[in-house]
Amino acid sequence: MKEVIPAPPPLVRNDVAAVQKLFQQHVVPSYGRFEIVLSHGSGSYVYDVTGKRYLDLGGGIAVNALGHAHPAITEALLEQSRKLIHTSNFYYHEPQGRLAQSLTSLLGGGKCFFCNSGGEANEGLFKLARKFGHDEGRFEIITALNSFHGRTLAGISATGQDKVKKGFEPMVTGFRQVPYNDLDAVQTALSPATAAVLIEGIQGEGGVSPATRGYLLGLRRLCDEKRLLLLMDGVQDGHFRTGRFQSFQRILEPAQSQGRAQDLNPEGFSPDGISMAKSLGAGFPMGAFWVREPYADLLSAGTHGTTYGGSPLSCAVGLKVLEVIQREKLADNVRRVGDFLKTELASLVAAYPHVLRAARGLGFMLGIELAPNIHNLPGDPGRTQAVRFAQLLHNAGVLAIPAGAQVLRLLPPLNLRQSEAEEGLSVLESITAKIAV
Ligand SMILES: Cc1ncc(COP(=O)(O)O)c(C=O)c1O
Repeated sequence: MKEVIPAPPPLVRNDVAAVQKLFQQHVVPSYGRFEIVLSHGSGSYVYDVTGKRYLDLGGGIAVNALGHAHPAITEALLEQSRKLIHTSNFYYHEPQGRLAQSLTSLLGGGKCFFCNSGGEANEGLFKLARKFGHDEGRFEIITALNSFHGRTLAGISATGQDKVKKGFEPMVTGFRQVPYNDLDAVQTALSPATAAVLIEGIQGEGGVSPATRGYLLGLRRLCDEKRLLLLMDGVQDGHFRTGRFQSFQRILEPAQSQGRAQDLNPEGFSPDGISMAKSLGAGFPMGAFWVREPYADLLSAGTHGTTYGGSPLSCAVGLKVLEVIQREKLADNVRRVGDFLKTELASLVAAYPHVLRAARGLGFMLGIELAPNIHNLPGDPGRTQAVRFAQLLHNAGVLAIPAGAQVLRLLPPLNLRQSEAEEGLSVLESITAKIAV
């Protein structure tokens, strides 16, 4: 007898309540979501199922590097999927080799490992550090308070925020958190078991806080002196988000150079390993970590792997994303429009100090810190100020991402236009002005 395949459920009405109901009934409720049900996007704009348009300044949390529905990505996906989508890592294929070549050339050498997410890229760095220290019994990794390194068990153990650990204890051993931008704190936390230090160049989830020059250079010196790996989590702040490939390159570049020198290792600085994801695939899920010589061969055959990592499809997209970023000079765009946005945000902070406390960040990774206890802020007092402010922006047609309770993040596509930045600022100003009265 012919096998009876159950008929698919009838098509749901594509409206807000029906889609939300599907989630309530069938999706693990691990996310706090906004009420919006998105349908499609184009460039810097995204539309919900009711047809409302939003200027997307959140960029899917720093992922949609080329905005929505970029034709080059569609084309790369189509072209590669007609040839070879997946091979497994038992075999060689050209796109993985070429993407590794492109990424390593942006860092002056070293090698790459490809995976599927930022959390998984960090797992690779943790294993690299353990392998590095193994024969001397060293395994500890020092990370920073307020950091965020992903939701895997080791990721939450590395992360310097209690809220991600709560309910999942005991943590993976071997991680210690110390205050960020505090070199003495790292030095004090060192033990004979320390193998590595891991930091974000700009803390993202922790509220958009950049590392200082002195901290980066001091960490490099300390790690050299004590034979520790210096690892950087570039998942959110990397891939040209600051106007340079990696945030340390922007933080350390000489004040007058404006990125013109394109020095890969300003001040002779280089971390030993960098994790990447998010904008790397511009929406196609992929991650990677980079390791510099002489550590690039530490993870030898059989010591690390992942089924989907570096598939022909993901690498074809990654190559196309890099090609568009370079062809369209998007790093310069980020620097120019990002500097404009930051200057304008600083003016709003000066004009409305009872609503906005500070503007921070670099390029297209900007944070707006809200003043404490804004008495006129509409919305459910049970929600954080950042969520309530984000809701006001959403109502007015702009998407932004909360970071912690008090900060809103702008992580727009790298090809955001000046006119779009102005549109976002004008919405932000009109909301701020209303609350300030
Ligand atoms: C700095 C940083 N590291 C790691 C991660 C985790 O990346 P993923 O969610 O792709 O696992 C994130 C995600 O927001 C991040 O911002």
